[in-house]
Amino acid sequence: MTATNYLERPDNRDLRHIEGDYGLPLIGSALSFGTNPLKFCDERYRRYGPISRFAMGPSHMVLALGPENAQQLHLDVDKNFSSAKGLGHFQSLIGGSLIMKDFEAHRSQRRLMQTAFKKSTMDGYAAPINAICARKLQGLFGADEFQLVGQAKSTLLEIAAQTFTGVAGQGKEGDTLTAAFQDFVDGFNFIFEVNLPGFKFHRSLRAKKYIEAFIRELIVDKRNNNDTDILAHFCRERDEHGNYFSDADIAENFVLLLFAAQDTTTASLVNACYELGRHPQWQHRLREEARALGKSTIGQEDFEALPSFSLVFNETQRLHSSVPLFPRRSINTCELSGVEIPADTLLMNAITYNHVMPGWWTDPQRFDPERFERGEHKQHAFLYHPFGGGAHKCIGMHFAQMVFRIFLYHLVIGHEIQLRPGYDPHWQYIPMPKPKDNLPLRLVAV
Ligand code: HEM
Repeated sequence: MTATNYLERPDNRDLRHIEGDYGLPLIGSALSFGTNPLKFCDERYRRYGPISRFAMGPSHMVLALGPENAQQLHLDVDKNFSSAKGLGHFQSLIGGSLIMKDFEAHRSQRRLMQTAFKKSTMDGYAAPINAICARKLQGLFGADEFQLVGQAKSTLLEIAAQTFTGVAGQGKEGDTLTAAFQDFVDGFNFIFEVNLPGFKFHRSLRAKKYIEAFIRELIVDKRNNNDTDILAHFCRERDEHGNYFSDADIAENFVLLLFAAQDTTTASLVNACYELGRHPQWQHRLREEARALGKSTIGQEDFEALPSFSLVFNETQRLHSSVPLFPRRSINTCELSGVEIPADTLLMNAITYNHVMPGWWTDPQRFDPERFERGEHKQHAFLYHPFGGGAHKCIGMHFAQMVFRIFLYHLVIGHEIQLRPGYDPHWQYIPMPKPKDNLPLRLVAV
């Protein structure tokens, strides 16, 4: 049993014995880190090695780079690292959910989600995902140039409304719900908690209230009917004592899903389309596989026949990790890469940097999905880890890849992604990696 008094302790700020610097007064390295975390990590790694100290605003932190540190933080065999305290910044938005729980408390909450993401349960999500992707894409085929980010977001929101709650995303109820989903997710991009009208954080808290009230209304019905959406599975799940989870547990974990699922999956689609636009030979390869399968809708049973879709997903995540970084806070004094880490220290590992780290990958910046066939990622268990690992490993990883494959299947089977000639966008990295101009493109019949 791990004592929980670490949850009450303040962050440790004394990291003088660790190489590094705290950047500018007040903001620390927030600007250079936020502008380009890859460049920031690379410079730190070359100057200080895998462990260095830095500051983000008022917080003093340790950057712990590389697959070995990722493994220690994710697997945490000695129970040295807290996810709850690492994500403390988001306490007001997702504080009651399982990603902000540690050890036993986390394990028992994770049961709430287990049936909803079982392979057999997920078969039920394929039909609405196919229908929504096909309809949304139909409206874009042959259209003038449009920005993919907005279209991918609205597709994902509709998929969430339908598969998470059973509410069809079209019509007033669905529209209000998807608007609340969007407001809630947008609020995570805050630096200071400004709970005043007009601020994103305020809109996000208001949306959370609306979504929670909406969910609570449905709980009793969902327990007693045969609905097959994710919320229905949450409502019918029982804890280790055979009791239903509380309404608060269900609502808090439901909103976590929105935070965890939306922008991450949107980024995977947007950035894959960017890479496919630049590498028509890969579009061709996907199209050949899709046409060979030749079905009007696809499900998990078809994914084996679409191996290049997995290669493209993996290589896109490698070059544009949807979750660029993951935070923890140390509980006890411990060691990373031979450096002593005091108790209560905030730590950050950069998934996105491990995915291109010098010394591991051949030609790391090149889009080369076949590297996953060659097994380059297998040199270390945590060299490639877009979905994390250990106790907090992404529970929606198969759901995300299902959406990815279905969306792209309906796209490439009859259409080609065309970018502007010589397209070379500026990039945004946080909170979601994507071209700053939201990826203008056209989908042309082939
Ligand atoms: C490409 C898409 C996605 C990526 C790259 C991704 C990545 C991740 C990562 C790295 C973590 C672990 C964070 C940590 O250890 O601190 C995580 C956790 C989580 N993800 Fe995902 N995710 C994706 C999509 C989804 C989707 C679609 C869902 C749900 C439908 C989802 C639900 C969750 C949940 C609930 C957790 C918390 C698990 C826990 O704390 O036990 N994710 N995800």
